[in-house]
Parts: sequence; C-alpha cells; structure tokens
Amino acid sequence: MCGIVGYVGRENCADLLIDGLSKLEYRGYDSAGVAIFDEGAIRVVKAQGRLACLEEKLKSQGWPTGHCGIGHTRWATHGVPSDVNSHPHCGKHTAVVHNGIIENYIEIKEFLLGKGYTFQSQTDTETVAKLLDYHLENGAKDEFDAISRTLRQVRGSYALGILFDSCPDKLFGVRKESPLIVGLGEGENFIASDVPAILKHTRNYYLLEENEVATLTAEGVTITDLDGAPIEKEVLTATWDIEAAEKGGYPHFMLKEIFEQPSAFSNTVSPRLRDGKIDLGIELTDEQLKNFKQIHIVACGTAMHAGIVGRYLIEKLARIPVNVDVASEFRYRDPILNKEDLVIIISQSGETADTLAAMRLAKKHGAHTLAVVNVVGSSIAREADSVLYTWAGPEIAVASTKAYTVQLSVMYLLAFKLGLCKGTLSQADAVALIDELAGIPVQLQSILGHAEEYKAIAEKYCHAEDMFFIGRGLDYALSQEGSLKLKEISYIHSEAYAAGELKHGTISLITDGVPVIALATQQRLCEKMVSNIKEVKARGADVLFICYEGYGDCSEFADSVIALPQSNDLFAPLLSIIPMQLFAYYVALLKGCDVDKPRNLAKSVTVE
Ligand code: F6R
Repeated sequence: MCGIVGYVGRENCADLLIDGLSKLEYRGYDSAGVAIFDEGAIRVVKAQGRLACLEEKLKSQGWPTGHCGIGHTRWATHGVPSDVNSHPHCGKHTAVVHNGIIENYIEIKEFLLGKGYTFQSQTDTETVAKLLDYHLENGAKDEFDAISRTLRQVRGSYALGILFDSCPDKLFGVRKESPLIVGLGEGENFIASDVPAILKHTRNYYLLEENEVATLTAEGVTITDLDGAPIEKEVLTATWDIEAAEKGGYPHFMLKEIFEQPSAFSNTVSPRLRDGKIDLGIELTDEQLKNFKQIHIVACGTAMHAGIVGRYLIEKLARIPVNVDVASEFRYRDPILNKEDLVIIISQSGETADTLAAMRLAKKHGAHTLAVVNVVGSSIAREADSVLYTWAGPEIAVASTKAYTVQLSVMYLLAFKLGLCKGTLSQADAVALIDELAGIPVQLQSILGHAEEYKAIAEKYCHAEDMFFIGRGLDYALSQEGSLKLKEISYIHSEAYAAGELKHGTISLITDGVPVIALATQQRLCEKMVSNIKEVKARGADVLFICYEGYGDCSEFADSVIALPQSNDLFAPLLSIIPMQLFAYYVALLKGCDVDKPRNLAKSVTVE
C-alpha cells in the first residue's frame, strides 16, 4: 500500500508526479504529497484527502516549476491521515517518501531524540528522513553513504524515494519487500511503485531487487548494492497498453474491468490450450504433477475465494486433498508441509505481504510453490518455484473483478491438468471440458448484456442494511465472493453462509424484508437449496434467486430472479460472478459510494 513516484528530467516535475500518482491512487488515497526542487531548494506540499486536495493546494500556493522530485499517495499505517502525517517527510537536508513499515522505528526515534532530533509526525517514515540527516552529520562520506548506513540500521519493509538538498538534480530509490521500479526515459528517468505510473513516458524499466540503490539523474541511472558496487540490470519492457490503465469511457475502473472479463479470460486461457491439450507453460513435468500428495492454496481476500473454487475443482477432478488457507493465518499456524506438497499461491498484485510470507514459509519447508499472479515481475512471481501468469492487464479498481475471473480460469486449467496427470480425468472428458471452457467468453459477453436488469434489481435492494448470501457447493464458494464485493464497496453489512448452515444460528437474523441472495446453479443440490430458501422465506426474507434460465416456477419463494444461461454446473461460478459483481457495483453507485476507492482500503496490501 501507498504509492510512490519520482521524476528527474526536463519536464515540469509537479505535472508528472501528479499524473503518476493518479495512476497509483489505488494503492492508498487518504493523503498525498510531493517534494520538488523549486528554485534550488526542496519545496514540500502535502494534503490530507484525495489527490485532488493536493492539486488544489499546489494551485493555490503556486505550481512548482522544478524538474526533480518525489511524490506519494498514502494508506495510513502509523499515524492518522492528516497533513502532518502525509509524505514526504523531511529532515534538515532530506525529503523521503515511503511505502512499507519501519518495524524498529521506535528504537530509532528514541536514539535520535537522545541526539536532539525532533519529530513532527506520528509516522515511522520520519525516522528514516531524520536518520539520513544524522548520518550526513555524523561521518557519512556522501549522500549514498548516508543511505547505506541508514538502511543497515532500519528493519522492516520499504520502497523509498529520497531527495537531498545538496543534490538538486538527483533522486535515489531503494526497496526491500515493497515494490519499486526504475523507469528509463530519454533525458528523463523515474521511480514508481508500479508500471502504470510511468507508462505514458516509457515502457522500459528496471526491477529493483532487495537493497539495490538506484541513483537517478536526467542523463542516466546507476544501480549499486549497499557497498556501492555497480550492478548490471536487465532492461524490461512493459507490455500493458496505456489505455488499459485508463477508464476508456467508462465511469469507473470497476465497471470497465467487469466488462473486460471476456477478453481477460481469453487472454489467460487461449494461449494455454493447443489442439485440445493443456500447456500450462510451467517447468513441472506431468510426472511431478502426478506425484503431489497434498495441495495447499494460500491467498487473501478475493484471491482466496478463487482458491476455494480451486479446491472444489481439484478435489473433484484430480482427487488430491486440497487445503485452502488465508495467508495471514497459514503463515503463523505452523502448517504441516513437506516436500511432496504443492503450494498454490494466488495473488493479483504479487506483492501482498502475508501471501508473500506464506510462500516463503512453504519454500522453507521444501514444498513446491506455484504462483498464480497477474503482475509480471512482482515479488511473488519472482520468488515462486513456478509461475502461471493471469493475463488480466492492470486492475486499477480496488475491488477485484477481472483478476478473480482469470484466477478462476487458471484453477480450471490446473484442475484439468492435474486430473489428466493423476488419471482421474479421461482424455475424452478433458477435451470436452476444455471445449466448454474455451466457450466461456461468449457466455460472459451475453450475461454482461443484462447489466441494466441487474441495475434495476440493485435499485430494489440498495437501501438494505444487511444482506445474506447463501449457496451450496460451488455456489457457496461464489456467495463468499459476492458478499465481499458488496460489503467492500457499498458498506452494506453482508455475510455469506453455506445454505445448510444457516439454521445453526444465523437464521435468527432473518426478519421481515432482510434480503437473502440465494444461488442455485448446482443441479444436484438445487432441491436442498430450495428447502433452505423456503426456511428464510418463512421468516420474512426478501429472496433474490440466482439460477439457470428455464428453472420453472419459483414465484413461491423468490421475490426477484436473475437467470443465467444454461451451463455445465462445473462452470457456473464463471457465470454467476458477473451478476454478483454488477449487483455490488450498482448498489454502491446508487448509494453514492466511491466505487473505485472504497473507504479504508487499498489495492496492494504490502503490510501484514
Ligand atoms: C477484494 C480484493 C482483495 C484482494 C486481496 C489480495 O476485492 O481485491 O480482497 O483480493 O487483498 O490481493 P492480491 O490478489 O493482490 O494478493
């Protein structure tokens, strides 16, 4: 969380920083700030609130004219969102932007207080700015040496952009556990937390490794280790379109990304299907896949929900036991892991702190780690033993939609492949399933054509205070994602339950008019679902029933109906997620919520 950007070149730095930050706002948006060399001195402007508040402040105070600076958009960890806690933080000679957490900041702060340094903010970051000052004033040979000494003293995670008042044409970037790239332009160079921030200016970039220090001037970039030894880096080229990181005529990124699902799905699945065969493009041989005795799927939030669907599919088709875990629990519960286990890590950003730590733990135990990741070159992608990229393109809205669908698509491919390797799925059945999977984008497109219907349904339910999502089997897995989508962007309290579990307590919350969204796409469980729906109906629930077209008369228990095109039950999650996403989107919109930037959230959760 938090987005950082830095620029050195010939253009107006403030313009570039604001534009770059606008592409990173998804990483945090409770305050923003910039530090820019203006007429030879570092000028800092920062403001609580969205980036627009910073822009206003810059306009009213006089837009800076300098060509070198750093910027930050914040998701508060240490210290409430306020002007003073916003980044950049300054020492006498320094300005610093930071993404991450300095774990030993209290110890450092006490040390510096003892030396007479004073602090303005409640943040951990200010200790870095002041510690840089301390080293500059106490024996550091130069600015680089001050950085090096400082980094040897701090513990925790960081991506840092640093300015020194003595170097008006230079900026520094360094990272450990939080992402940072160095963008390479013509007569200008950049640092940024993520590629979209620099895409307008360059596609070429370096990925910084842990504790590599980048020194940027307009003319060039040098990368060294903490001892100053130069490091040769490979120049990478971003393949994402500029348009992919823009709204492209849609009112919100979330709506755009919902509508991008057919193409994101095709981009992820098609290259892996050849002549009715699956080529995952990973180093694992069929023999290795066959020999895994146990699978763990570890992720957070929506990605974990994709993992729950993955468990159903893999257990059904490949008959391998699968555990699904929330990464923040997995990493601390001393899980039983061994060399014969496959650990599937799912992450859109590839930077989620808990997920990354869980993966490292799995590697330490000798399990094979397979990452399903959307962001190329992210930490999880780089450290995993094998990587399966989802090709969703940049997902900017905080609420994940297209990333979830492509994660599901990979779960299908994996389940088919494992089933084939285990011999639990015949070649003929696999060919039929692959064929159906390849046809999903057409069905997605047709469901998206019903968006206006879902909007009308959202109008009916948008005033509710609580909602319950129920389902059985794969529908229960989907209910969990539907419920998360709704609550995170509309702030309506909502919970998902296995339909059969409701009567063990939660049904006491069902009273007159409480909406219950009931999914029933699993034929084998439909009758049981209907019984559960009747139970809530009898307690006054207002039931929104999601089923296949041609279900028949459900007027006895359903107050509203969403009908999906007929499909193989196994593929129903790929279809039923669309109305649930659109329902959440329209409810949030009708309630006047900030759909793309829900309160208290950030997209890339790089702190635990
Ligand atoms: C919800 C959402 C989050 C993420 C979770 C994991 O809409 O987006 O629950 O799924 O924070 O993020 P990644 O996938 O980047 O590891």
